This record gives sequence, C-alpha cells and structure tokens, in this order.
Amino acid sequence: MVKICCIGAGYVGGPTMAVIALKCPSIEVAVVDIATARISAWNSDQLPIYEPGLDDVVKQCRGKNLFFSTEIEKHVTEADIVFVSVNTPTKTQGLGAGKAADLTYWESAARLIADVSKSAKIVVEKSTVPVKTAEAIEKILTHNSINKGIEFQILSNPEFLAEGTAIKDLFNPDRVLIGGRETPGGFKAIQTLKEVYAHWVPEDRIICTNLWSAELSKLAANAFLAQRISSVNAMSALCEATGANVSEVSYAIGKDTRIGPKFLNASVGFGGSCFQKDILNLVYICECNGLPEVANYWKQVIKINDYQKERFVNRIVASMFNTISGKKIAILGFAFKKDTGDTRETPAIDVCRGLLADKARLCIYDPQVSETQIDKDLNMMKYSWEHPVLLKPVSPTALKQVSVVWDPYDATKDAHGICFLTEWDSFKELDFQRIYDHMEKPAYVFDGRNIVDPEKLRQIGFIVYSLGKPLDPWLKDMPAAVA
Ligand code: NAD
Ligand code: UDX
Repeated sequence: MVKICCIGAGYVGGPTMAVIALKCPSIEVAVVDIATARISAWNSDQLPIYEPGLDDVVKQCRGKNLFFSTEIEKHVTEADIVFVSVNTPTKTQGLGAGKAADLTYWESAARLIADVSKSAKIVVEKSTVPVKTAEAIEKILTHNSINKGIEFQILSNPEFLAEGTAIKDLFNPDRVLIGGRETPGGFKAIQTLKEVYAHWVPEDRIICTNLWSAELSKLAANAFLAQRISSVNAMSALCEATGANVSEVSYAIGKDTRIGPKFLNASVGFGGSCFQKDILNLVYICECNGLPEVANYWKQVIKINDYQKERFVNRIVASMFNTISGKKIAILGFAFKKDTGDTRETPAIDVCRGLLADKARLCIYDPQVSETQIDKDLNMMKYSWEHPVLLKPVSPTALKQVSVVWDPYDATKDAHGICFLTEWDSFKELDFQRIYDHMEKPAYVFDGRNIVDPEKLRQIGFIVYSLGKPLDPWLKDMPAAVA
C-alpha cells in the first residue's frame, strides 16, 4: 500500500488529502500538524474549517485510510510521498519584509523530513512558494542523502482550489500541475504522483512541466485572477462617475470569448490568504531579478484593491453627511467570500477599521464567523505592505463600539446604514421591509457585493449605494469625502 503523509492540516492540506483518500482507497493518507487543537478538531464532528461537502468526504474515509495526527515523525518516516502544505505568509520583518514569502515553516518541515527519513521519498511542494524554492529544499534534503544514502525527489504540485468550492474544485479540477526535475529519477517521481491523481482526474488535465514552470505558474495564475478583479473594480469607479453600470459592462465584455464571463464581479475588494500574499511574492521575485517595471506593474493590482476599500468607506461617510460618529452601522458578512468562515485578508477588516476611525458603532453579523475571530482580526497589528510598517490595531475605545450578533435582524435594528461585505446567499432572502421599518431614517444600504436589487430597495424607501452602478439621486450631489 502506498503511504502518503501531508505536513500541514489547513485549508489546503485537510480537504486535498481527504479527497485523495476518498478517490484512492488503496492509499493510506496521514495528515499531520503541530497544532494539536486543529488535529483534534479534524478528528471530531466539528471540523476546523467550514467547506461545503467536506464533512461528508471526511466521514467516509476517516479511520479507514485517512488519519489526522500530531505524530509527525512517525508518519513522515513511514510515507513514500510527503506533501508539504504548511503556511507561507508574507515576511513581516527583515530583508524583504512586506513582500517576500516567509519560508520558516517550510524549512522546518524540510529539515524534519531530512532528519527522520530512513527510506527514499518523493517530497511534494503543495504550499505556494517562490520560484526556485525546490532548489533550496533539495539542498536541505540532499545534505541528508549524502550522509544516509537516501534518495529524495522534489516535485512542485501547486494547489488551485478556491475556498468555498474546495471539494468541487478537487473533484473536478481544471488541471493538476506537476513539475519535476528533467532526469530519469525526476520523471519517475512525476509518474508516481500522476498515477495518484489519475484515479479520478482525466489524463489530459494532468500537466507535467519542469520544476520552475510549476512553481511560477501558481503565482502567475493568482496574479492574473486578482488582476481581473482589480480591472473590473477600477471600471466600477469609472461607472459611478459616468452613469454606466458595471454589471452591464462586465456582461458585455465577458461575452467576448477571449475575455470570458468568469471572475468579473466588481466588489469591495478581493480578500483571502492568497491573492495579496502571492502578488507581493511575485513583486519581490521581480525586484530580486532586476525587473522593477514588471514589479510595479503587479503592485498596481494591490493598490487598486486598497483604493477600492478606501473608496467604499469614503462613500459611506460622505453619504451620511460626512459624519458617522456614534451612528450604528450593520456589517452583514465578514468572511472574505461566501461559503467559508475564513477571514484572512478579508476586505471587511479594512472597511471596519475605516468606519471605526470615524467613530461609527458597528454591529457585525456573519453566519460562519465567530465573535472571537472578529475580535482577533480587529485587534491584530496589520502590516502595511507599501511602506512597510505595522499599523496599530483598532484602539480599545473603538473596539468597545463593536458588537457581534448571530441574527441579521438584530444587527440591523436601529441602524442608520447596512453594509454588505460578503455575498452570502441568505442575504438575498432577507425581509427588507421588516429591516427598513426598524432602522433609523434615512436608512442606507451600501452594497459592496452587488447582491441586492437597488430598485426594489429604493421602492421600500432605502437610499442605496450599489458598487459601480448608477448613483442613487440622493448620493449624486454629495461631495466625495477625501482624506
Ligand atoms: P493554513 O494556515 O490553513 O494551514 C497550514 C498548517 O500548517 C497550519 O495548521 C500549521 O499549524 C501547519 N504547520 C506549519 N508549520 C508546520 C510544521 N513545521 N509541521 C507541521 N505542521 C505545520 O494554510 P493553508 O490555507 O492551508 O495554505 C497552505 C499553503 O497552500 C500556503 O502556501 C498557501 O499559499 C497555499 N494555498 C492556499 C489556498 C487556500 O485557499 N487557502 C489555495 C491554494 C494554495
Ligand atoms: C484563490 C484562487 O481562486 C485559487 O485558485 C487559489 O488556489 C487560491 O486563491 P480563494 O482566495 O479561495 O482562491 O477565492 P477566490 O474565489 O479566488 O476569491 C478571492 C477573492 O476575490 C474573494 O474575496 C472574492 O470575493 C473576490 N472576488 C472573486 C471578487 O471580488 N470578484 C470576482 O469576480 C471573484
């Protein structure tokens, strides 16, 4: 029986390994992590992450050929293939701070593999890493191989799943990418991993490349996706200024088969643990390779994303007569997108910080995000990528202005305004007449995800700001708030 061990039981390691176990009953899969609480949760009925369909997959194979454990050394020693799916955040200190990937976790995993291995292993980079990371990892492992005569083959097998649709993406991936050394040993390792995926992925969707192409393709894919959002968000600002409607523009341009219809939804900004981190990583690699023009090109994608969040906050302040001090604002949605409880880099953090800086009172509701998590996010020192400095967390006085509730009607009661920051489907079903009746007047809706029908809400009496759509007559004459 082939044995797989995955180091890192997070958003990628957990679901990916669960799907491998489900699709390959002849393979034994162990997912290991240093975080004992996380492993306990994987072994319980309350999984550590919310992901549609995940519970079902885990229940089918846990205890059969899928195991979650903190016995890292044991499972790495026994494995034929070791996936490394640890976090690779942006460095916050030292050389490259604010941009470069922090590979501390990766290196410690590699050293552990080198230390405990007693037999040949294929080591698979699942984490998103800078180009040429495999070379560094190879050095750590080869050093060991010289001492003990153990052969290691490194493969790059980046993950393209998106949160909220992870199981669907893993069941039916657009492609699986495997990069390896162009040597007989490298080709053999690629073939071994290919056979794992071939249990359920059609062969023509399994792409094999050299190591560096695979590593770079992951950064490139995320940069291209994020760039599309910044492009449509830049258009949303122009739409508001000209009376065009960004949804109509997106639809019209998406009909061009060269552009395509997906990923063209204007929003309050992209979030998630990947896009900003991976673009910054790309920017850093460009700078290190003497390509400042290329670096600046990609930086602009993040600048527009920051601009979009700021623009949203400024619009709220301007609409409410330039003062939101003491006014209750309901925040509906805190996760970075629907169908996940993940709040990493969610635009909601920056929007809430902006509103609190203007002394608003916030009442937050998200169906999947706990009060503890929201508290942690607002209390966090945030890193300003551009300068790079640590920004102070929200002050204790401002934090007192934040409450978190489990009912959208409680959140909106007596509020002056509502902000939609995540596109949860349940928000479309809200009883807006009931909400309006219990709000202060004028009652505002600021839709950062374009999920409400502005005309229907205006008929009820709301003043509605929908991102990138023709402005409400009430808002047209309001001068924009500027810093
Ligand atoms: P995560 O933070 O959810 O999980 C990483 C896990 O690794 C944590 O549980 C941590 O405790 C564990 N870990 C760290 N060092 C360890 C060590 N030395 N030994 C054992 N465990 C260790 O991160 P994630 O979201 O799963 O992302 C993992 C990687 O995959 C990142 O490089 C990320 O960029 C990439 N990625 C993420 C996504 C996504 O949607 N989240 C998608 C594609 C790729
Ligand atoms: C992304 C990539 O899509 C995935 O391939 C990669 O493996 C990890 O990073 P993820 O961050 O989980 O996945 O979600 P994604 O669906 O890409 O959304 C990222 C952000 O962009 C979210 O905040 C989302 O709301 C926003 N978004 C997405 C838009 O604002 N508009 C869109 O049209 C699409």
